[in-house]
Amino acid sequence: TQHFSYQDDTLNIDGISLKELAIEYGTPLYVYSKKALVENFRQYADTCKRFESDKIHSLVCYSVKSNSNLAILNILGQEGAGFDIVSGGELQRVIAAGCDPRKVIFSGVGKTANEIGLALKHDIHCFNIESFAELHRINQVAQEMGKQARVSFRVNPNVDPKTHPYISTGLKENKFGIPYEEALACYKAAASMTNIDVTGIDCHIGSQLLDDAPLLEALDKLLHLVDQLSEEGITLKHIDIGGGIGITYDDEKPVAISDYLTRLFTRVENWRKQKHPDQSIGLMFEPGRSISGNAGLLLTQVQYLKTNSDKNFAIVDAAMNDLMRPSLYEAWHKVLPVSNRKGEATSYDIVGPVCESGDWLAKQRELVIQADDILAIMSAGAYGMAMASNYNTRGRAAEVLVDNGNAYLIRRRETPEELFALESVLP
Ligand code: LLP
Repeated sequence: TQHFSYQDDTLNIDGISLKELAIEYGTPLYVYSKKALVENFRQYADTCKRFESDKIHSLVCYSVKSNSNLAILNILGQEGAGFDIVSGGELQRVIAAGCDPRKVIFSGVGKTANEIGLALKHDIHCFNIESFAELHRINQVAQEMGKQARVSFRVNPNVDPKTHPYISTGLKENKFGIPYEEALACYKAAASMTNIDVTGIDCHIGSQLLDDAPLLEALDKLLHLVDQLSEEGITLKHIDIGGGIGITYDDEKPVAISDYLTRLFTRVENWRKQKHPDQSIGLMFEPGRSISGNAGLLLTQVQYLKTNSDKNFAIVDAAMNDLMRPSLYEAWHKVLPVSNRKGEATSYDIVGPVCESGDWLAKQRELVIQADDILAIMSAGAYGMAMASNYNTRGRAAEVLVDNGNAYLIRRRETPEELFALESVLP
C-alpha cells in the first residue's frame, strides 16, 4: 500500500493524482498500479528463484479469477507467470493476452467436454482433476483427439484454513477435490489409462489465509501421499499447493510470502533429499489475491448525503454490482477520501444506488465528506471487477492501469446499449 499515499491532502497512486483520474475517466473507476502488481508477483518469483536447482524447479501460476483483465495477464505473463484458470473463457483470455497456454493449469469441479478439448488443443500444462468422473471424461476427450492429458488430482487434505467459511475449501464437507483416503485409488486408475499422463498432485485449502501453518500441514499430507504413490510405482513430477495467502484490508498481518515460501521449499528439499535423492520435483503455486488485491482500488463519487432517523448515508455511484465482496461476505474494505477535508468527522454507511438493502460498500466509517467528493475503496484489485455484474442494468466500471507516471485505460466503461445488445424481442 505504499503505492497509495497522500500528497498535499490528495490521494495519489504511484505519484498520479486519483482526483485527476476520476475527472478524466469518470466514476466508478478501478485503478491499478503496475508497480504494485509486479512487486507482489516478484515476492513469489524471487523466492522461487532462490531455491531453483537442477532438482527443484517451480512455476507461479497467477489465479486468473482474481483479476482477469488482459493488461494484467499480459504484465504477469511478461514476468514469467503461469496461469491458474477455471474455465475455457479464462484460457481464451490468457491466449488473447499473449501469454503461453503451456503454462496453464486448469482447476475447477465442472470442466465441460468442450473446455477440456480446448485445453488439450492448446497443450496446457496440467488438468487439476477434482473427481473420478472428470478423470474418465478427460481420458475420453484426449482419446478422441489422439492426445495425452497431463493430470494432477486435487486432494482434499482436510485441514482447517481458519478463514471465512465461504472461502475455505479444504475441509471434508466442501465440494472441492477428492477425499484424501480415495486419492490412491484414483491415481492407480489414472495410471492405467491410455491417454492420461499422471504428473502431479495439488490442493487449495482456502483463501485469505493469514498464517501459513495450515498450508504447511497440507503440504505434509501431500508429501505423505507422494511417498505412498512412489511405492506403487507412480512417480509425480510436481506438487501444487494452491493459492490462499491473505492480504491486509484493515490491520491483518499476513505471513510474508518470502517467509512462507522459504519454509515450504526447505521442507520439500529436506523431504526430497531424505526420501527421493535422485529425483527432481517441481513446486507450483496458484496465488490470486496476494498478487492483485492490494494493487488496485475503486474510485467512486458521493452523489448524496442523507440521514434517516439516526443513520447517515453516503450514497455513492459504485454499488454491489461493482464490488460484491461487502454484500456477499460482509467483507471490510478501507474507505479513504481522495481529497482530505478539515472538519469534524461523521459516521456514514457507504451505500450504492442498487435497490437492495444489501447494497453497501462499507458501514460506520468516520469521514469528513460532502456531496461530489471522490472516495477510494481500497484493496479492491482482487475479486472486485472480476466479480462485477450488470445488475440494475448498470454498465461495469472502467479500469485504468498506472505505469511509470502514465495512466492507461485498460477497459472502457460499458454503455447501456451494449448491455442489451444480445437480446431481442419476439417477432
Ligand atoms: N486456486 C484455486 C483452486 C482457487 O479456488 C483459488 C480461489 C485460488 C487458487 C486463488 O486463491 P487466492 O490466492 O486468491 O486466495 N471471491 C472470494 C475469494 C474466492 C476464492 C476462490 N478460489 C473473495 O472475494 O474473497
